[in-house]
Amino acid sequence: MTPSRGHGPLSRDIDRILIGERQIAERVRVLGEQIAADLTGSDGSLVIVAVLTGGLVFVADLVRALPMRLRIGIAAVSSYPGRATKSRGPELVGALPRDLAGRHVLLVDDILDTGRTLAMLRAEVSKQGPASVGTCVLVRKQKPEALAMPCEYVGFDIPDEFVVGYGLDYDDEYRNLPFIGTLRAEVRR
Ligand code: XMP
Repeated sequence: MTPSRGHGPLSRDIDRILIGERQIAERVRVLGEQIAADLTGSDGSLVIVAVLTGGLVFVADLVRALPMRLRIGIAAVSSYPGRATKSRGPELVGALPRDLAGRHVLLVDDILDTGRTLAMLRAEVSKQGPASVGTCVLVRKQKPEALAMPCEYVGFDIPDEFVVGYGLDYDDEYRNLPFIGTLRAEVRR
């Protein structure tokens, strides 16, 4: 698929769209149904922990596909310095929500790449004694580390390429693209 003209100058930097806007919307709806069915009876004890900044757009859509009482918390994690496209390892920036004991916690991130971010967060959240800890990502890269990482909800499996859009960035830009795609080589300075 080639980029639509809708996002003007941003779309011109995209090489290929891997997952389109409608495909994302449909998958988010189905994920919401699955999560709601799995947590039937959790009755208000679900806490969605949004992994920022990348998980922002996905979480905003996912919570509106969850027809149940829930709370939203945030975990700010930094892994990519500026224009780097290789993770230097996740670092928790600021505190996690503190009231997770006895609650069902679902960590929601944009992408599962090396798996280090979700492994670190799962361990940190577990220290508080939650009723359960699950993870949900919109995309998972098809690489051994990602596939080996337990993840309860996966939207799409994608090739092991650097992607942007729908929350994913390059040098903090492109997060507002409504689709997920690869960047043209000349844009990655
Ligand atoms: P790990 O390796 O810990 O990575 O699973 C998760 C975090 O790394 C970022 N990430 C990416 N960001 N395009 C991006 O814009 C990518 O292809 C990509 N791969 C990993 C992302 O912030 C995620 O939370």
